[in-house]
Amino acid sequence: MYVIGGQASTALAERITRELDNAPFAIPFVKRFPDGEMYVRVGGRLNGEDVVLVQSTKTDADLIELLLLEDAIREAGAHRLCVVVPYFGYARQDRSFFPGEPVSARTIARHIELNADAIVTVDLHSPITLSAFSKPAFEASGIPAIARLLRERPVDLLVSPDKGGTERARRMAQLLDKPWLALEKKRVDSEHVELSLPPNVPVDLEGKHIVIVDDVISTGGTIVEAARLLKRHKVGAIAAACTHGLFLRDAFERIKAVTDDLYSTDTLLNPAEKASVAPDIAQILQRDVARL
Ligand code: R5P
Repeated sequence: MYVIGGQASTALAERITRELDNAPFAIPFVKRFPDGEMYVRVGGRLNGEDVVLVQSTKTDADLIELLLLEDAIREAGAHRLCVVVPYFGYARQDRSFFPGEPVSARTIARHIELNADAIVTVDLHSPITLSAFSKPAFEASGIPAIARLLRERPVDLLVSPDKGGTERARRMAQLLDKPWLALEKKRVDSEHVELSLPPNVPVDLEGKHIVIVDDVISTGGTIVEAARLLKRHKVGAIAAACTHGLFLRDAFERIKAVTDDLYSTDTLLNPAEKASVAPDIAQILQRDVARL
């Protein structure tokens, strides 16, 4: 396998390379034309190679880079191309909520798969998007990576900030052999939420080390509200952990102000990246993609 890392995921691509017994690795050349259009060029001998391209798509520019790189890799004569999209942008619009809206996640999936033989992504907003691909598509989880990190730290209780994250908190709790609970969340608007404790809390919260686990931290509103609620119950320490750390605007600072620790995986570049999904992605590449 030959690994290529786009600009949004160079470090993670290199970590994946190491997990694949130091497979050949290349960073493409990317520049802008004077009118703003992007230019990419891939080096290395790709003719007949099985290539893995790694690129998260947080911004539209990341997505254009990904599509251009896929085409360049095909032009260079790659045998098979597996596209790894650690953070899959546009995943939240996974259905048409109101008349006239697109199913954004589906249309992005269709464009990405045009030049791909297989797709690997991490913690999609909803599993529906996986079925939008007509090529083999696999989803890694960020939970094992965060659990590997938390094993070294004091943890008494895992908390999901909403019912939607129940499975995530339950799985993390299982890996760490700890109790878990899901808060009840009411979204007021795109930036504000109201949270409350469920009727049955499995442990007395006072003095406990709590880890709030979410898939995405975006504006930070959810984690800040969850931390404030838990503090009112005199918990000992609060950490927040997520797979995808978007940390928009001042989210990072706002969360740091109400928590003791903040962890994210490396699907996106951010200051809280402390756990790597590289082993989990490499496992899928070796176990599932290599067999196709
Ligand atoms: C919601 O469904 C997600 O799991 C996250 O809780 C949400 O996207 C976080 O957004 P924010 O950081 O803006 O509150």
